[in-house]
Amino acid sequence: MENWRLDLSDDDFWAFSELVFDKAGINLHQGKKELVRTRLARRIREGGFDSFKAYYDYVIQDDSGDELVHLLDAISTNLTSFFRESKHFDFMVDRFLPEVVASRKKGGARRLRIWSAGCSTGEEPYSIAMAVLEALPEAGRWDLRILATDLSTTALGTAWRGLYHMDRLTGVPPDRLRRYFQKGRGDWEDWYRVKEGVRSKVAFRRLNLVHPFPFKGRFHLVFCRNVMIYFNKETQNRLVSAIHQVIEPGGYLFIGHSESLTGLDHRYQYVQPTIYRK
Ligand SMILES: C[S@@+](CC[C@H](N)C(=O)[O-])C[C@H]1O[C@@H](n2cnc3c(N)ncnc32)[C@H](O)[C@@H]1O
Repeated sequence: MENWRLDLSDDDFWAFSELVFDKAGINLHQGKKELVRTRLARRIREGGFDSFKAYYDYVIQDDSGDELVHLLDAISTNLTSFFRESKHFDFMVDRFLPEVVASRKKGGARRLRIWSAGCSTGEEPYSIAMAVLEALPEAGRWDLRILATDLSTTALGTAWRGLYHMDRLTGVPPDRLRRYFQKGRGDWEDWYRVKEGVRSKVAFRRLNLVHPFPFKGRFHLVFCRNVMIYFNKETQNRLVSAIHQVIEPGGYLFIGHSESLTGLDHRYQYVQPTIYRK
């Protein structure tokens, strides 16, 4: 039905807004009303609900939490790209990796842990893996693992498959495309799959950054880029301090280009815009 349009009342919008904030820390102000309406309308139509209120009631009473996952999937904005914000990759190669190599004690473990928190459809952690494999001397002898987490199960599905249409690969230079991707054939001619050597370095998990982290291990570097923009100050404060606890002393936190820790209560040392150190 082309012209079918569901109206979203202010009351219903605020009910969804509160629910999404409560469950995922995502701040949906009045200006996001049209976004919420269009993103949820499809799910409502597919599910055969006749109003936003009916859908809301269903989400609330669904004890399995499955529909809540779909709701949050529909709301979260997954925009990302390969090698996005290249200065972080430059810093990683020019400063972070040499520091890691220099600080390894003679005969000590070659261990490197990186976390892509809010990894969306996988471009970020795969870019990290490619850059590290290229720049780390004797990379094959290192125990390198990249944990990549997101709230959205749909985004994680794409990430895990590691299969991208050529339109999504504009940020990947031809030599990296050849080295790290396998080109599809026949009907898949316009598609590229990340090669196993890169995929095997990345583990994808669903994780809500608003909840306590379920791991104890520490990371040398955390990318948490373009995620905090959706959170209010209190949630941002809680998140940056929780991340601080899982960063190795001397390790780094990278945040998105439009984000800053200014005004937040934190214990990081400022290095340069969007780069902080524990
Ligand atoms: C705009 S993308 C950023 C992707 C990537 N970090 C980048 O900068 O290109 C934001 C991601 O944050 C995720 N996200 C939003 N709220 C979240 C939460 N509470 N817990 C975990 N991930 C969340 C979204 O699902 C989305 O994939």
